[in-house]
Amino acid sequence: MESGNSSSVAVLVVALALLFLSTKVCSQRGPQVPQGPLVPCFYVFGDSLVDNGNNNGILTLARANYMPYGIDFPQGVTGRFTNGRTIVDVLAQLLGFPLFVPPYSRTRGRALLRGVNYASGASGIRDETGNNLGDHLSMNQQLENYASTVQQMRRMFRRNDTELENYLSKCIFYVGMGSNDYLNNYFMPDMYSTSSDYNPKTYAALLLQDYSRQLTELYQLGARRIIVTAVGQIGCIPYQLARYNNNGNGSRCNEGINRIVSLFNTGLVKLVDRFNKGGLPGSKFVYANLYESAKELVTNAPNYGFEVVDKGCCGVGRNNGQITCLPLQPPCDDRRKYVFWDAFHPSEVANIILAKKAFSSKSRTDVYPINIQQLALLELNQNK
Ligand SMILES: *[C@@H]1O[C@H](CO)[C@@H](O)[C@H](O)[C@H]1NC(C)=O
Ligand SMILES: *[C@@H]1O[C@H](CO)[C@@H](O)[C@H](O)[C@H]1NC(C)=O
Repeated sequence: MESGNSSSVAVLVVALALLFLSTKVCSQRGPQVPQGPLVPCFYVFGDSLVDNGNNNGILTLARANYMPYGIDFPQGVTGRFTNGRTIVDVLAQLLGFPLFVPPYSRTRGRALLRGVNYASGASGIRDETGNNLGDHLSMNQQLENYASTVQQMRRMFRRNDTELENYLSKCIFYVGMGSNDYLNNYFMPDMYSTSSDYNPKTYAALLLQDYSRQLTELYQLGARRIIVTAVGQIGCIPYQLARYNNNGNGSRCNEGINRIVSLFNTGLVKLVDRFNKGGLPGSKFVYANLYESAKELVTNAPNYGFEVVDKGCCGVGRNNGQITCLPLQPPCDDRRKYVFWDAFHPSEVANIILAKKAFSSKSRTDVYPINIQQLALLELNQNK
């Protein structure tokens, strides 16, 4: 009797499971929901705003592989310089990827085809940028690593370069560089001579000349859909607020610094226009204006649920901005109320807002000349 009962229970369970499956299949009909990612691959270059663990094995102070960094990230501590997801993590999700883009330092073999993150905290367009913090992978080094990835991919495509080129032309490339060329170079006159060698205008021009060559190299290595980002309002980060308002009662942005980095941003828009108007045929560049979208976010902070715009959620000293978040230091309680996670980096909630604007905003102030969703779906002219 016992065994007879359990087998009829088993039949019932199977029948219910089939019923459940069939209703599930039915409920999936109806409006066509896009299946899988909008693009086959996503490659990332940048600094600590998007580094996801490449600096963990590097001798540098620019590391975030300790608690409470990652406190709100599903996998916990990874080396991301924020409490949760970075902008590119959110973009990967918006593009429909089931997984985050893995760090180059831990990616081998066929996984390279889906996309890799080469970003490294403290790095910049210039090789020496960030040396004050230790080692890092500069933009030039990140490009070398990508070139090595492309060589490995050539073998995976059995050296059929036409096929590889076609594949890479569908991928999205995200390049976020420049902040450290100011923060950890130009604005550190004790460590670097750039501010005495160049005025703000000639320094921006110099950076853009190097950047233009680097982006052209990326193009020569197959990239066609390329996002570049503005340098943010670094005169308004808690680190600068703490230095600038040293009487202890201020949250006034250092507009002098903002004006100087804006020279770089203005030039970057011109570079994007030049590339798009035939400078690099068959490509499309998109400028994600993190300067303006972050400014809007701070201006309208209450609309987004933010209560604190001038202090890091975790950090030490004035504005929690004099020393960055220390190992095992307790962060603020309600992280959703903070624009900044630490002295330098946005919180996850801020990253989500910035990523969504770049992905789908219709305003050319946020993202120019098209948004990232449009970039992913764009038909590119293959006949260069
Ligand atoms: C490369 O791939 C394309 C498209 O699949 C194919 O038409 C072409 O013949 C291949 N070329 C070589 C040299 O195998
Ligand atoms: C705040 O700044 C004002 C001048 O801008 C100064 O007179 C005052 O003493 C400052 N307060 C503190 C607490 O430092």
